[in-house]
Amino acid sequence: MAAVAARDPEQRIVFSLLPQASRLKNVRYDIRGPVLRRAQELESAGHRILKLNLGNPAPWGLNTPEPIVRDMMQNIDAAQGYSDARGIHSARLAVAQYYQERGVRDVGPDDVFLGNGVSELIVMSMQALLNPGDEVLIPSPDYPLWTGAVNLCGGRAMHYRCEESAGWAPDLEHLASLITDRTRALVIINPNNPTGAVYSEETLLGLLDIARRHQLLVLCDEIYEKIIYDGAVHHHAAVLAPDLLILTMGGLSKTYRAAGFRSGWLVVTGPAVGAEEYLEGLQLLANMRLCPNVPAQFAIQTALGGYQSITSLVRPGGRLHDQRESAWSKLTDIPGVECTKPDGALYLFARLDPAVHKIRDDQQLVIDLLNQQHLLLSHGTGFNFPTPDHLRLVFLAPTDVMDDAIGRLGRFLETYRQ
Ligand SMILES: Cc1ncc(COP(=O)(O)O)c(C=O)c1O
Repeated sequence: MAAVAARDPEQRIVFSLLPQASRLKNVRYDIRGPVLRRAQELESAGHRILKLNLGNPAPWGLNTPEPIVRDMMQNIDAAQGYSDARGIHSARLAVAQYYQERGVRDVGPDDVFLGNGVSELIVMSMQALLNPGDEVLIPSPDYPLWTGAVNLCGGRAMHYRCEESAGWAPDLEHLASLITDRTRALVIINPNNPTGAVYSEETLLGLLDIARRHQLLVLCDEIYEKIIYDGAVHHHAAVLAPDLLILTMGGLSKTYRAAGFRSGWLVVTGPAVGAEEYLEGLQLLANMRLCPNVPAQFAIQTALGGYQSITSLVRPGGRLHDQRESAWSKLTDIPGVECTKPDGALYLFARLDPAVHKIRDDQQLVIDLLNQQHLLLSHGTGFNFPTPDHLRLVFLAPTDVMDDAIGRLGRFLETYRQ
């Protein structure tokens, strides 16, 4: 029904009906939904909330390396106009060379699209691909923007199980059983948010083999590729399967602690034969948004080419390594709380043993925790996980803050019942 506008006595326009677009009806982004609204209400009422719900490094003193910021500032004069719709050439070349050095074949600047964060590129990649009813294979649990983007574009997210008992590796049999004649693409998030799993070469080869057999486009979200611990090794799907069309995504938000710059990239590798129209669609969408944020594009070359300060944060003695170690051990000391130690990324995805904590509604649990302890975490079902028995904690905060948070969670769980 069309919106009906009238005027109230103060002559403001009043809409008697201004409905939401129906394409948003199936789009959920719970990790920023009612829980966050409640946190904002509490903050407005003057309470201080300890927020371990966002993978946003800077507020915890994990700042963008100074040379990256300086380079961006030095280039600010050159960043006043729109750039090429895919991004400035020097940054796209730097991204292409980065992947060349890592063993990706036949990749050049024309294969790179820069974006306002990986987020924009996720949505664009789906907008260019999906017709109503098309299906996309997405891990469960997932980073929920992937499912949201599929739904936004009229597609169906088909969630393949990742097995907690197998270090959160994808269940390949389950994945294969979900394939139909509507399946268009396979999404791989490696290292994974929220589980922290870093997939072995064998697991990736298994995933890629399924994509090969069913001619699926592969979308590989590798935004945490350098945030890995204890000797874990990250493999690029694009190196393992040069014969498949793969879109690899990465960016500055996590490794370079520049989430606010909104800067990411998408690299197209593999045979484009038969996919020309899809790639033209991506170019069309890139043209329509004119270009990504230009100042932040100037940060990319320095970030990728310079000293990789992330390595000193993830090795023993580094903040991320030590915060993860300490938070994991304290968290798993809480009775009835278990957690597979993450090999990568910034999160602990903890299980509340249903024999000890009988939780029916994990979003309500998170709201009750917020109300009682002023601690903000994320509920597992918000990551498209099927059962209400998981919580995600971000371990970006210094160890004393993590200790405080886990102490609050432990005290809360001692008496909490649903
Ligand atoms: C797996 C994953 N992909 C993409 C993003 C979004 O990244 P960006 O800041 O580049 O939009 C995030 C952010 O948390 C993420 O965890």
